[in-house]
Amino acid sequence: MINIKIRVEEKKDWNAVEYLTRAAFWREERIGKIGVGAVEHFMVHKMRGKEGIEKLTFVAEIDDQVVGHIIYSEGSYILQANGEKKVVLNFGPISVLPKYQKQGVGSALMTHSIQKAKEQGYEAIVFFGHPTYYPRFGFKEAKAFNITTADGENFPAFMAMELQKGYFDNVSGKYIETAIFNEKLTMGPAKEYDQAFL
Ligand SMILES: CC(C)(COP(=O)(O)OP(=O)(O)OC[C@H]1O[C@@H](n2cnc3c(N)ncnc32)[C@H](O)[C@@H]1OP(=O)(O)O)[C@@H](O)C(=O)NCCC(=O)NCCS
Repeated sequence: MINIKIRVEEKKDWNAVEYLTRAAFWREERIGKIGVGAVEHFMVHKMRGKEGIEKLTFVAEIDDQVVGHIIYSEGSYILQANGEKKVVLNFGPISVLPKYQKQGVGSALMTHSIQKAKEQGYEAIVFFGHPTYYPRFGFKEAKAFNITTADGENFPAFMAMELQKGYFDNVSGKYIETAIFNEKLTMGPAKEYDQAFL
């Protein structure tokens, strides 16, 4: 059986992490649309030392090679009807080197990081992702918790999970995501940043 080791990311991993994030997310058709095949390696780079939470940023290793990565951030919040802001965790990008996908690396990163987030006292996660992949880890549509996007919308890719049971009983409203995930804002600087990877 394949041996996957999960540990907290260290500075020595940064290069490998950005390369694998770029490789996992790269799509030729994005070049025509946004000028660059991936923006997610730039997002990871920008989050470090800012929204990114060091003790909730993990790498996955197989035979001492870094093959997967996940980063959590805390720049996003729920804006309640009374104007109160409740900070919630967000994760992403999560990436696995294409060659190592579908072998349980992504699942190992998810399971480990969710457990660590609980242990560290975080209360909830809200994020956008593939609606067929994440429910297996306990995510539900955000709609189930009366949480909408900033535009008041709900759809299957918009998901949430309580880390402390009952947290969303008293927290609902609009999810305001940190600007780093805004592709329109990041695509210019991401394109420039990507030049170093050619
Ligand atoms: C998504 C990703 C992190 C999953 O990691 P992984 O190591 O391949 O996942 P696992 O081996 O743990 O799980 C494989 C399962 O994920 C599913 N899966 C992989 N990519 C998926 C996708 N884009 N949408 C839906 N399901 C997906 C597989 O079909 C498989 O399902 P099964 O268990 O029912 O057969 C990885 O495929 C990846 O890096 N993809 C490119 C970047 C990306 O899309 N990141 C997530 C953005 S939300």
